[in-house]
Amino acid sequence: MKNIPVIMIIFGGSGDLAHRKLYPCLFNLYEQGLIHDNFAVIGTARRPWSHEYLREQVSDAIHETHDQVDENEVKAFASHFYYQSHDVTNVEHYVTLKKLAQELDDRYSAQGNCLFYMAMAPRFFGTIATHINDQHLTGSGFNRIVVEKPFGHDLVSAEQLNKEITASFDENDIFRIDHYLGKEMIQNIMPMRFTNPLIKNIWSGEYINNIQITLAERLGVEARGGYYDTSGALRDMVQNHIFQIITLLAMPEPKDLSSDSVHQAKQELLKSLIIPTPEEVKKNFVRGQYLGSDTTFAYKKEPNVDPDSTTETYVAGKTKFTSGPIAGVPIYFRTGKEFKEKKTRIDIVLKHINNPYGQAHSNNITIEVDPESKIYITINGKKIDEPGIRREDLTYAFSKEEMAKVPDGYERLLHDVFVNDSTNFTHWSELKRYWEFIDAVEDAWQKENEAGNPEIAQYLPYRMGPKEADNIFESPTEHWIYE
Ligand code: BG6
Repeated sequence: MKNIPVIMIIFGGSGDLAHRKLYPCLFNLYEQGLIHDNFAVIGTARRPWSHEYLREQVSDAIHETHDQVDENEVKAFASHFYYQSHDVTNVEHYVTLKKLAQELDDRYSAQGNCLFYMAMAPRFFGTIATHINDQHLTGSGFNRIVVEKPFGHDLVSAEQLNKEITASFDENDIFRIDHYLGKEMIQNIMPMRFTNPLIKNIWSGEYINNIQITLAERLGVEARGGYYDTSGALRDMVQNHIFQIITLLAMPEPKDLSSDSVHQAKQELLKSLIIPTPEEVKKNFVRGQYLGSDTTFAYKKEPNVDPDSTTETYVAGKTKFTSGPIAGVPIYFRTGKEFKEKKTRIDIVLKHINNPYGQAHSNNITIEVDPESKIYITINGKKIDEPGIRREDLTYAFSKEEMAKVPDGYERLLHDVFVNDSTNFTHWSELKRYWEFIDAVEDAWQKENEAGNPEIAQYLPYRMGPKEADNIFESPTEHWIYE
């Protein structure tokens, strides 16, 4: 692998994301030689840490995520880390930061290449972008910026943030990260769709009855009540992760695998995304909040959550496109906290066909993303010793050894940033379209809230979410495949 010279500045260097994901994943890339001699990382945050203390934190982060490590490698890697105490609202601090970045650029021969990573509370993204621009922090080589989610709170704020970032960075240098796009099975959607005649040829409204996407979580909002109460499931999970999955499932075949072609195919599809009317939101969407149990809080009693909150911890809904291979096919989705189990899966439900055996089982394609990674097709055959049709799964799965080789999504995506591959990042025009959809739903809900009659289903924790979500289907023969 080519050694890429770069100075990386992480805003949020003392935070959870940096500790759990960025430091361990950077270490893996270091071990593979992608970043090696000519790189340095500046971690910034308000706390008054020293370089040495940050290096200890980096070393701890690696030990916490790796069973076996070469201590000399860890030490050598950590020596590339520098800490700068930084208040993102203080202009002076950017001057100091710039000076340190320049010194390190000289020391490490980083060729003026800079990578900025926004890994802190999203309310500061705009301020950081503005000061990167007015204090001229960008270097003389490449300049890239990675922006964590949420990118805005609605379309207007996303547009504002985008304006602030594009003052210093070209669209091609902005990496809006969505960790779902780094997941093994999400990256398997395109090859599955486009390399198998068996699947590619049935990918249309003629054969597909509906598609169902479930992002279920066992955990509640935990310590994130403050953030979550201003967000809710629709913004937190649908606006990004679910819409990315929908786009990969519904987009036309790209002309090749270049980032431009993939984004072109996505954008072509998204033009035809149907934005729901308030009546459609009422009919096709369900929002819910989890109740408490003997040992857990109800959502409204969680720390930092408004006791009268109307924020949803669950949402189910429907979407459709007017063009693309599955134009007109309903795509149902749902996501929620405090489900019975963690489960991310996609079910492609095929239409029944007339057959001389009478009733057969449905023939579906399922992609399991988490916690297991596999694709299976439920298939009909004959029963051995009695008349009738038996159902079995044809499974595409990985061995334990193969699974152990699957890199963390963050490692993959960081790698892509270093090698300048934007394929698995969100382009502005895609994000914009997602927000248009989300805003339409949020506005309709907001009106219901203001009218004093919000329909927010209260659901029991650790089950399957509100039963109201069973009624969003277009036909009475449709139902959730994963129950
Ligand atoms: C994040 C959300 O983007 O995704 C969290 O903010 C959620 O609320 C998480 O828990 C789920 O990610 P994963 O990879 O565990 O499915």
